[in-house]
Amino acid sequence: MNILFIGDIVGKPGRKLVKKWLPQFKKEFNIDYVIANYENAAHGFGITPKVYNEIKNAGVDIFTGGNHTFDKKKEALQLLEEGKILRPLNYFDAPGGWYYEDENIIVISAMGIFSMPYGKNPFIELNEFIKETKKFVFIDFHAEATAEKRALFALLKGRVSAIVGTHTHIGTDDLEITDNTLYLTDIGITGCRDNVIGMKSDAPVKHMLSGLKYHFDVPDKCKSIMQCLVIESDGKIPKKAFKIKADENGYEVVQRVNE
Ligand SMILES: [Fe+2]
Repeated sequence: MNILFIGDIVGKPGRKLVKKWLPQFKKEFNIDYVIANYENAAHGFGITPKVYNEIKNAGVDIFTGGNHTFDKKKEALQLLEEGKILRPLNYFDAPGGWYYEDENIIVISAMGIFSMPYGKNPFIELNEFIKETKKFVFIDFHAEATAEKRALFALLKGRVSAIVGTHTHIGTDDLEITDNTLYLTDIGITGCRDNVIGMKSDAPVKHMLSGLKYHFDVPDKCKSIMQCLVIESDGKIPKKAFKIKADENGYEVVQRVNE
């Protein structure tokens, strides 16, 4: 069974590359499941039914969320109530589900604690939730701190199939498979790569200089990148994995690991 995971798809530049490359990658790498994080897909903030349909039609099967899941609350609630997207497990009483399960796979959407909305402790929740299974268990751990991500790996190593980080928008080069668990601290953005985490640079720079808040905006034109991970598994056990970086002109495999 082959899985392809795309991290934070940020706005139109991210969606454009997903539409360009995903159908080809699905065929070329014989992909059974495509998982993607949607939380920045609608101009950087949340998701709408229109954007959902666009990404869905490009070939995404399972949608994971994060701290921006409810930025467009009405639209997000509609999609959650229709069971089309997941929201992170941390939210106490929010509608919708935080995991997808079928006969082959369990996909979990969870957030960290540091610099994230107040909610349930994902370490305690996942430690209790993860049970012995023959299915591939994939966790999108949407977290700010690298140490939190490593700590979740240390806690669940050997008990889940894959833990892949999202949220920072900056890809890390620490892909590994250890004790039958694949781990990557952060997959990195699918969107603009030449500004500040996918947003026009002026607002974050003014914010850093003044301490005041400014509206963050996705650029119309930028150098964009798509970053995704392909995992080949034998049921629940990840056997091989590689990361792909793609732009408008082509793609390259940048990290590759074996069991
Ligand atoms: Fe996030």
